[in-house]
This record gives sequence, structure tokens and C-alpha cells, in this order.
Amino acid sequence: MCGIVGYLGEKKATPILVEGLSKLEYRGYDSSGIAVVEDGEIKIEKCRGRLSNLKDKVAGKEYAGSIGIGHTRWATHGEPSDVNSHPHSNEDETIAVVHNGIIENYIVLREWLISEGYKFVSETDTEVIPHLVDYYFDGNLEDAVIKATKRMEGSYALGVVAKNDPGKIVAVRKDSPLVIGVGEDGKESFIASDIPAVLNMTRDVYLLEDKEFVVMTKDGITIYDENKNKVEKQIFHVTWDIDAAEKGGYDHFMLKEIYEQPKAIKDTLTSRVVKGEKIKLDGIHLTKEQIENFDRVYIIACGTAYHSGVVGKYVIERLAKIPVEIDVASEFRYRNPLITDRTLMICISQSGETADTLAALRLAKEEGARIIAITNVVGSSISREADDVFYTWAGPEIAVASTKAYITMLIALYIIALYMAEAKHTVRETEIEKIKDGLLNLSEKTAEILNDVDTIKSFVDHLYSKNDVYYLGRGLDYAVAMEGSLKLKEISYIHSEAYAGGELKHGTIALIEEGTSVIALATQSELYDKQISNIREVKTRGANVLGIAMEGQTEIEKTVDQTIYIPKVMSILAPVLSVIPLQILAYYTAVQKGCDVDKPRNLAKSVTVE
Ligand code: M6R
Repeated sequence: MCGIVGYLGEKKATPILVEGLSKLEYRGYDSSGIAVVEDGEIKIEKCRGRLSNLKDKVAGKEYAGSIGIGHTRWATHGEPSDVNSHPHSNEDETIAVVHNGIIENYIVLREWLISEGYKFVSETDTEVIPHLVDYYFDGNLEDAVIKATKRMEGSYALGVVAKNDPGKIVAVRKDSPLVIGVGEDGKESFIASDIPAVLNMTRDVYLLEDKEFVVMTKDGITIYDENKNKVEKQIFHVTWDIDAAEKGGYDHFMLKEIYEQPKAIKDTLTSRVVKGEKIKLDGIHLTKEQIENFDRVYIIACGTAYHSGVVGKYVIERLAKIPVEIDVASEFRYRNPLITDRTLMICISQSGETADTLAALRLAKEEGARIIAITNVVGSSISREADDVFYTWAGPEIAVASTKAYITMLIALYIIALYMAEAKHTVRETEIEKIKDGLLNLSEKTAEILNDVDTIKSFVDHLYSKNDVYYLGRGLDYAVAMEGSLKLKEISYIHSEAYAGGELKHGTIALIEEGTSVIALATQSELYDKQISNIREVKTRGANVLGIAMEGQTEIEKTVDQTIYIPKVMSILAPVLSVIPLQILAYYTAVQKGCDVDKPRNLAKSVTVE
């Protein structure tokens, strides 16, 4: 995820900016850059790749400027490249901007600015900002930034400098974090997207609210609201150590990423799903005729991504009415799959680098299939080799155990299914609108679950000492059971298996005895009664059962030992919510067992060997 730093003071800005950026490396990034104001000029240095590349670039240049802004970019709009890196500037480099967030209306703004004579060089949404500021600039930087932000929709944290209003940094935030560091004697000030970037310079910060503007000069820091009224703020003194702060105060990245899910859902839906409008997918270029021509879809993925694909099969078949086969990528190539030019392959991979998924993609491409990639990493191998790409805007996932990437893969699959259904008219418009509404409410409902995790945590005492756990579900609940089971085993090392509720009695039920732990999902209203019967089968054999159901489905309480309720949603969308208690359960079980949650044994985040 992108990171911002800024410095204004009496020291040389470059080393302070580079050091600040190094403290943000943990967030994940694929390029970095700085802009330093010196001798009435703005010097911009930026490049793709690790921060060491930037360090090499600035080494020996000895910039003496003591005002500057810096950025680590995690690509969303446009591949990781030198030109797409921040800072971005206007044509004559008199204004430079670093930006975190997404400008949702950048296409409209870009077209308008082009019609006004502005020239663009990058593929980013950010580049509209320096041009907009340029458009409104008449000698006062903050006034121009205020006017520019009034035209911008979406989320942003900005740091802006201008050659023709020197001695100043202007910063502003909306829906993207930004803090202002107050240096010693009021002689220096900092901006940062995240406290660690400034923690070795100062522990005194202002925490900005949305739409607050900051003007930093050598005379001090002034904070304004969007109408340029002065705002008085209390200084917040940071007492955490740097390690905790990098995880945003969470004990582990996994927990942080679980709590980032409401935002990740929102970002993935942004500008793609809008009430009353057709789905818009700027990375997918299929015509109605091409969609109608597909006679089969293969979904190919590994691990957690595969589990999202199991949900995808159900959703695409139900909405787009195309037969879908789902395969573990490592198996796909060796079963002589039937591929023609009427085949659509959807490859799902958080990293976009998984070797087996990439190999399956290449085989299908050779045989003439059309390939859509769903991935979280812009410019990854899978995104480059696919015909079309759907980026999940989950932000970098650092914990090995995938959580927010899984949830956004589900969102991607719903959106693609609706996109095909709209093209093929396979579902009534009212039904499509209902699902879109449901999708747009998911972020809030996810946050509701995360606000109250006590019941979930209370089951951990029962679970953490077990050797085996069984997860049961029917329909979409079975798909989620698989993911819940994987989450538990990979981080807590407890053996677990997921079964379709009706399948257990064909063998595995022999393992159920007094005290066996079972986690049973029952969120699917049309399968509810059948699943309750399956739960009864294990309960009567002595199992201790945790049930997961939707609010209002209270009948389950008569059969299970404990119940967790998820907020009410359409059955088809339930996987996005029902997986969250399972992630939390796995997390706290692993913590209680003292496991290395973020780096479980034998596992790697990205599996680039077959
Ligand atoms: O990067 P990918 O999504 O292609 O990775 C696939 C699997 O290795 C991955 O989902 C793995 O199963 C997870 N780390 C499990 O949490």
C-alpha cells in the first residue's frame, strides 16, 4: 500500500525522506520517489523497484533543499514503472504531488484537462492532481489545492509542493490516513501516511480528520477546514514502539488485514458497482457477442484462491448460466482439459506469481482460450499474460494466511458474474439490482462482525487443545468451510477437514466421538433444514458443535452448543460474511497455541515453484 512522507525544516530533506520511506516498506510497494525544493526548482527522483534503487539514484547528488515530499507506490492504476511512480508533476514541473488513495472520477477529470490543453505522461489516476492544482494556481498553493480537491471524488492523502509558492508544503486527507509530525522547537514539521515514517524524528503528531488542510512553513503548522477556517487541534503523543506501529497497533499483520476487510471490499467495488448503472470493468474488454459465445468456464487457482473459485463456480453458473469447472491449478494441465476458442479461463491469484496457476494460464492461452486474471498485484506475471485483468484493490497482504485477498476475490467473482449476466440477460434486472445493493452493503456488515468478536473468541478455549476439527457446510457454506478449515490448519497446525454436510455419513462420520469439535455453517436458507439434520447426526454422536448462521435463523440453537450469527444478507452473498468468524477463530487459536501467526512453518507467501 502506498506510503507518504514529507519534511520541512532546516536539515537536508533527502536523507530524511528516504529514511522515512524505509519505515514504510513493510506496507508493500513497487516503486518510490521524492521531490525536493531547491534553488527555486523542484528536483524529482523516482524509479520502479526497491527503495535501494532510489537510494542509488540520489546518491552523490547532494541535494541541499530542506523541503520535500516522498512516496512508496503500490500500483493500482497503471503498472509499476518509473513514469507511474510518484511524485507526479504538471508539465513544467512547477508543482509536485504525492498521493495515497484512488481518484474515482479521474477519467472524467483527465479528459477535461486534456481538452484544456494539459498533457499526461502516466497511466495513473494521481496525475490529474498536479494538473488540477496547476489549473487553479494563482500564486497561493493552499487555495489551489482546496479548489482542486473540490473537483476530486474518491479517497486521498496528499502532499503538495510548488516552485512558485516556495517554502511550503500543503497536505490534505479524505478517507486515507495522514498525520502531521511536529518537530523540535517548532522548527521542523513532517507529513506521513503512517506514524512509523516519522517516529524516529518526533513522537508528537496531529491526527488529521477528513477534509482538513495543513499548511507547513518555517513559521509553523496551520490547520484549516475545507472552507479555510482555522482548526485548533490537540497534539497526540505517540507512546508505541516502532514495531507495534508498523502493524498499526495490531499484534500481527493477519489481524490487521482481517480488520482491513471492510475497506478492501469498498475499494474493490469502487467505480465498478454503482446503483442503477451497468457494471463497469475497465480491465475487461469482452463484447456481448464474445460473452454469449463462451460455452465453458474454467476457474483455475491454488489454496485460498481456489476456495474463492468454488464460490465463483456457483455464482457464475447461477447468474451467467454458463457451465463452470473449477480446478486446482497443479492438476489442471495433467488431465488433458478440453479447451477451445469458446473457453473462458478465470485465473485467480493474489500474488499473480503462483507457478502452477501461471502454467495453467499459458496452456489454456496456447489452446485458444480467453483468459481473465483476478489478482491483487498490478504488473504481476499473471496480470501481464492474461487477456483481461480484474485487480482486487485489497492493498498488500503481508501475512502468509490470506484473508482480505480471499474476500476481495469473492467480490471480484460476483462482479464478473453480474457483468456476464447483464450482457447475456440471464437474470432479471431487479434481481441484479438487488445483488448490487447487497454488495454495496457488505463493507458495513463486515465491520459489524468485526466490532463484536467475543463469542467467536470464547470458542477458542475449546478448540486450541484439539487435534482434529471438522468443518461442515452445504452449497456455498461448503466452499466457505474449506477456506475456514485451511485457515485453521495453516496457522494453528491443528488437523482439520471440510466436508459437505450430506457426505459425512458416507465414511467420515466414523471419526466423530464424544468431544470431537465440529464447526457447522448453516447460512443458506434453502439448505438450512437439511444442514440442521446433518448437524444432528454429529451431535448425537457426541460432537461439540459451533454453529454459524444468519441473524434470525435461531432454530439452529436447539442443535448446537454455541452459535455465531452473521448479519442478514442474500444467501448468495453470505460467504463474504461467514468466512470472517472462521478467520478470527483460526487467528486466536493460533495465538493461544503460541504459533508464529504471520509466518507459519513450511509456508511461503508466494509459491513460485511447481
Ligand atoms: O498468490 P496466490 O493467490 O496464487 O496463492 C495461492 C495460495 O498459495 C494461497 O492462497 C495460500 O493457500 C494462502 N496463503 C493460504 O492462506
